[in-house]
Amino acid sequence: MSGFDPVWLALREPADRASRDAGLIEQAAAGLRGQDAPQICDIGAGTGAAKRAFSPVFPSGCRWTFVDNDAEVLAAARQACGPEVALRQVDLSLEPAPWPEGCALVTATAFFDLAGAAWVDRFAAALARDRLPLLACLTYDGVMRFDPAHPLDTAITSAFNRHQQTDKGLGGAALGPNATRFLVSALQAHGYRCRTALTPWRLTPAHQAGLIDTLVTGIAGAAVQIGDISAAQAEVWSADRKARLSEMQVGHLDLYAVPPAS
Ligand SMILES: C[S@@+](CC[C@H](N)C(=O)[O-])C[C@H]1O[C@@H](n2cnc3c(N)ncnc32)[C@H](O)[C@@H]1O
Repeated sequence: MSGFDPVWLALREPADRASRDAGLIEQAAAGLRGQDAPQICDIGAGTGAAKRAFSPVFPSGCRWTFVDNDAEVLAAARQACGPEVALRQVDLSLEPAPWPEGCALVTATAFFDLAGAAWVDRFAAALARDRLPLLACLTYDGVMRFDPAHPLDTAITSAFNRHQQTDKGLGGAALGPNATRFLVSALQAHGYRCRTALTPWRLTPAHQAGLIDTLVTGIAGAAVQIGDISAAQAEVWSADRKARLSEMQVGHLDLYAVPPAS
């Protein structure tokens, strides 16, 4: 188990779907049209949310490979997506280029913020070697907004962002909020054209009470664990946030990157 259990992934999937940038998804779809049964490789695939989100827009007949190191989420992906999806249980820290021969597009969702700088450099070099486009969605960007505000919001957010930059098992200290910026630079160094879009979650208790509750608990726990916030402060903050928030935003970026024309 990686800590990304299927229950958490199911909780976040509707918010992810509402936030993904339709324009960048359309550009990725346009790149696939005209290809015969294009192969897509989703890295850090979880239970297959990307396939569910992109299939209405991507051309029919796409063949999917899901790559993840977690047997439990891959089993859930098999149940949700059926036998036609290829599953690979791979530790991406050891194998940053797991796509099949003839792959047409690499996708990832909520993944690159877990990766370290050297790993992203290796990934970008392999992607460029194989001249593959990348659609990387919902990478955390470090910005959280809470309405109404609480005096501890800023301190908790910066503690959480520090925690996001600890080792997440993907090539050392994670890039966390800096991931998209770093990934864009790494790809541009190989001549890629990169387009990004802000894709924050905008969560309200009326629609996403369960997600807000789980998030607030997780954020407070991370802030205490990193050592910047006391348990008592975290308790005060999370009780207030769970009781009084009318909206919570969690910032993300989507990226679509295409290799240079040959
Ligand atoms: C935040 S979850 C996102 C899952 C999925 N993309 C989604 O949107 O629901 C990150 C995923 O990356 C996978 N992951 C993390 N580290 C990994 C590694 N070293 N190798 C392979 N997969 C990894 C986790 O198991 C998890 O499924």
